[in-house]
Amino acid sequence: MIPSDTSSPNFAGGLISNRATTARSCVVVGGSSGVGRALVSQLSACGDAVLAVARDRRDLAALQSDCLIRQDAHVRIVEADLAASDFDVAAFVKRCVDDLGHVTHVFMPLGLIDADDCGLPSSEVLQSLTVVNYLRPAQLLSAFCQYFSTISHGNAMVFTSIATDAPRGRNAAYASAKKALEFYCRALQHHFADTKISIQICALGYVDTTMSFGAKLLLPAAGPEEVAQFALRFCRTGTRFSYFPRFWLPIIMLLKALPWSLYKKLRF
Ligand SMILES: NC(=O)c1ccc[n+]([C@@H]2O[C@H](COP(=O)([O-])OP(=O)(O)OC[C@H]3O[C@@H](n4cnc5c(N)ncnc54)[C@H](OP(=O)(O)O)[C@@H]3O)[C@@H](O)[C@H]2O)c1
Repeated sequence: MIPSDTSSPNFAGGLISNRATTARSCVVVGGSSGVGRALVSQLSACGDAVLAVARDRRDLAALQSDCLIRQDAHVRIVEADLAASDFDVAAFVKRCVDDLGHVTHVFMPLGLIDADDCGLPSSEVLQSLTVVNYLRPAQLLSAFCQYFSTISHGNAMVFTSIATDAPRGRNAAYASAKKALEFYCRALQHHFADTKISIQICALGYVDTTMSFGAKLLLPAAGPEEVAQFALRFCRTGTRFSYFPRFWLPIIMLLKALPWSLYKKLRF
């Protein structure tokens, strides 16, 4: 369930910015840090109406202040733990729509990894990573797409990982959940084909955020701002799937083409 005190102060809205706004009205689920934070910042700089969602109220409030000071833009914030057992998906979506007036775009850069997701992850790790990386995003996609059906248009974008294409001994629970989310998105793409409702999948390589902090990276990491810029360009294309950075495409193709006798020897 969404905390009942989200209207005030957790659910902050109502200030009027003097910026000209575009037609976009966006929800960023996981908008407090990394790629989500960069997306919120760039969307609000474009004059879009933006509502950022995450668990940490202080991070959200800092982002809200930053956008107000630097861009004279009022970002709405919602503190919510999507992993909570009583999280009410339908109530959450209704609240987003009520607060923004209408929603045209949903970005879902939320994600969670776990240091114990290694080898054979425990039931608890499998459970928690599946809820945040697959179950809630899929439930939110269903609910937002149901809303988009009532207004006959809408765009949802999810963020997955190159890890889904390269099974390995680490991040098995994380990557499995992201793979399930990709599949669900592809099924929705088929369901909504030839409508004005689009679902886009952005598969990211390494990104320089807290999620990748301390990890040994084999290739350069993109900045979260670069990812956000790409996501906004990608959004305009309506393309169903893209890797970012793009150099991951040939690498993934190569990995997929490797015979098992070679693949199993890779240490990554
Ligand atoms: N960083 C990488 O190298 C990398 C690589 C490939 C793919 N990705 C994917 O790209 C996306 C963005 O990654 P990132 O590095 O920007 O992640 P990040 O910095 O860790 O941000 C994740 C966001 O999700 C929110 N979040 C996590 N659990 C939540 C929950 N239970 N309820 C509500 N919000 C929650 C976090 O806010 P709170 O903690 O305040 O809740 C935060 O805003 C993710 O989907 C990630 O899986 C990242």
